[in-house]
This record gives sequence, C-alpha cells and structure tokens, in this order.
Amino acid sequence: MRSNLIQVRNMARTLLLLIFISTMGACGKYPDEINMGAHTHHQKENSMGGGNAVSCSNLTEPPSNAPVKSFDLTAAKTFVRLKSEKMVKAWTFNGTTPGPELRVREGDRVVVKLTNKNIEEGVTIHWHGVVLPCSQDGVPGVTQDVVRPGEQYTYEFVAKHPGTYWYHSHQLSSEQVKRGLIGRLIVEPKEKTFHYDRDYAVILQRLGENEYLTNGQEGGLKLEATPGETVRLRLINAYNRVQWMGVAGASFQVVSIDGHDLNEPDVIQNEWIPIGGGQRYDILFTMPDNGQVRVYSKKQKDWTISLGKGRAPKKLSKHAKIFDFTTYGTPKEDGISPDMHFDRTYDLVLGPADINGKRFHDIPPIIVKEGEWVKVRIEHKLGAEHPMHLHGHIFKILTKNGKPLSGSPIYADSVLLFQGDVYEIAFQANNPGLWMEHCHNLNHAAAGMSMMVNYEGVTTPFRVGTKSGNFPD
Ligand code: C2O
Ligand code: CU
Repeated sequence: MRSNLIQVRNMARTLLLLIFISTMGACGKYPDEINMGAHTHHQKENSMGGGNAVSCSNLTEPPSNAPVKSFDLTAAKTFVRLKSEKMVKAWTFNGTTPGPELRVREGDRVVVKLTNKNIEEGVTIHWHGVVLPCSQDGVPGVTQDVVRPGEQYTYEFVAKHPGTYWYHSHQLSSEQVKRGLIGRLIVEPKEKTFHYDRDYAVILQRLGENEYLTNGQEGGLKLEATPGETVRLRLINAYNRVQWMGVAGASFQVVSIDGHDLNEPDVIQNEWIPIGGGQRYDILFTMPDNGQVRVYSKKQKDWTISLGKGRAPKKLSKHAKIFDFTTYGTPKEDGISPDMHFDRTYDLVLGPADINGKRFHDIPPIIVKEGEWVKVRIEHKLGAEHPMHLHGHIFKILTKNGKPLSGSPIYADSVLLFQGDVYEIAFQANNPGLWMEHCHNLNHAAAGMSMMVNYEGVTTPFRVGTKSGNFPD
C-alpha cells in the first residue's frame, strides 16, 4: 500500500517534470550573456594576480610532424533519399546523415575544415570522446563562436587514443543532432590489441521524429562477413535513449567501451548490452559456419545489423541477462582506486533533468587545478536514465552502488545511470580548459542537465546567450 502510494507520487512528479521539460523552448532559457568560464573567485584571484591566466583559445594542438589527415565537412539543410525512395528533410554533413565516416590512425594529426552552407542557427563540431585541446572542442560560447552560414572553422588535433568516437554539432545540440548533424570518427590502433578480419562501425540514429536509421538506412543494415571470419563491430548510439543491444547467432566479447579497450574480456552470449546515449560499445565475434549473426535493438527493429548469409539466428529471450561491466573481464593494476588520495571530491545528485537541484549555469562548476586527482560521486535519484558525459577527459569508473568494480578497469567518457544508481568516477585533471559535463540525453541537457568542469586560471573570450547566438545545448 505504502509503496503503491510512493509509486503514484513518483509517477506524478515525473509527469510534472516531463511537462516542464517539454514546454521549455529551445533558446528561451538562455539569458543575454553568460561567461561559462567565470564562476570562481579562485579564478579571479588568478587572473587579477596576472601571470598564469590562460585563454581557452590559446590552448591549441602544438605543431609536430605527425602525419596529417585532412577532411572537409560542409553542413547544410537538405533532403536525403531513403531506401524506400522517401525523401526526408535532414541537416547533413557533405549531403548525408550520418556524414562521412572519418577513419584515421592513432597519432595522426586530424585537420577538419567545417563550412556552414546554410544553417542559419550556426553549427560547430564536437569530437565526442576525443581528448583534445580546449580550443578544438567545438562548444559554442565556450571554446569558439558558432560558425554562421558562409563561414568556416578548422579543427586540428592529434588523435592520441585509438577507439570508436563520433562527431556532432554542439550548437543547439538536442535539435541539430536529431536533424542529422552527426558522423562516425574511428581512430584505428597502431597495433591491434585484438585480432579481427573485418572492422565495421555502425551508428544508430533517430532522424527527426520517425526515421530510425542504421548508418543512414531504414530497415536495418546488411554487412558482409563469411564463415570463420572475426568481426569487430563498433556500435555508436547517437540517440538520446538507452538501446538494449542483443547479439544473436554467436558468442561474443565486449572489447571496448567508449573507445577504450577492456582487459581480457570474457566470451559471453545471450546478454543485452545497455548502450546509453552517446556511448560506444565495440563487440568482437567469429562468424558461425552456417548462418547469420544479428546484432539488434530490443525495442527498435530498424536498428538491426545482419552479418553474413544463411539462416537467421534464434533471437535472445526478452528476459536474458543484462551485460554488467562492473564484473566483466580481468582486473589490471593501474594505481587508480577508490581509496587513493584525491585532491578534490564532488557530489552530483541527479533528478529528472537537474543536477543538485539546479540547472545550466546555476549549477556551480567543478573546479580543478592541473595535475589534481578528482573523484566525483554521481547519484541518480529520480527519472529516466542519464548517460553522463564529460568532455576532454577519460575517467575511470571506480564503484557502483558502493562496490568497487571487480573486472577489467573501465575507462570512459560517459557513465550510464538508471534511477537508484550511484557511481564514483575518477579522473586526473590533465587537460587544462573549460569542459562540459552533461547528460547525453540531449533533451535533458537542453532542459538544464549541463554543467562545467573548469580549470583554475582558464578563461574564455566567448559567451553563451542570445547576444552571441551561442547555444551549446
Ligand atoms: Cu556528444 Cu557535449 O557531447
Ligand atoms: Cu539525462
């Protein structure tokens, strides 16, 4: 009885908040002008004391003789033709959504010239999950001004960490990602940690309200693979909500999460993998002698990837086990543990669309100093799942619900929290700048689940707000 009452109360609260979230206008929430780099007196002291204040704009990739890989991406409002011949409105990079797959090699210098053809609201490109200098992070009003129609901006960074990443506009991101301004970024390793014969990257996307696309196609995707071949399949969830992905027809390993390899991952089967918004999971499997492998979403049948020919495999039970990274793979000492010394600890309590009861620039930033070790405890109190994403850093997931992880170390740029979950994460402040930390359900971010991790002494000449037209969420 009592628990029923609580349930009803919770439901009512969630409903009210949902109404609140959905009535918030896209930029109605932005004041004239906010300085995302000015929240602390430490910083003032620093900049007044002169000497050690540095602008994000001056934090660039130093010259080197790394091999250069250049790309041009042109953002435009256009139409795309789906397989069914249906024409749908889309905002595209180089005429397609997703835009071209950018493949580079670990250590390459990536140079991308972005041109905005005709998107009046302006665009940027954020390199999701990539550790790069502050000025290249693509956050309008923080690391650059939005790129207006007819304008260009060139991004330049060294791809230090191999793995599966993606790119998307960070201007009005909840809207622009949904309209199609996304693409895959794959950084191939200099040396493979795992053997595979085929390497595919697949992005799951909802375009507009109704199109569920798998690498831009309706009705799922067919990929070539022959019996005995080993396939690395890089799954990218560009949609806001968690996708429960099943692998039918083969046993498999989860070899990488958010671009970072796992240590000695076990071979498993019949488990649903929950991939939160913005997250990447790479799986590895060997094609069976006769028949297909299907990797598919539990909820959305257009998000099905079929590999190989032959008979269709038996599907997973809806009630199959849920993949648990907290006990998966083999431990490996890296010196980062829950009981080590931390220079700063922070607590974030998540509601349906708020952090510590606050929203946007009202949420005090996490302040760090270069070199410090930082622990953040994140608790999800109420609401839909939150894939919390940090820019510019790789963190380690230390504990879940008070228990240290017992499998492979997990390094990531996001952590997916369901209601009731508590995680502790740790990172070293080793990339000076002003960095966003937000929910990658971009509707939640737009409703206020978005804050900053700011280094002491780093400033920005850019401003968020209606005056500049820079709207990062
Ligand atoms: Cu895909 Cu601010 O993130
Ligand atoms: Cu969220």
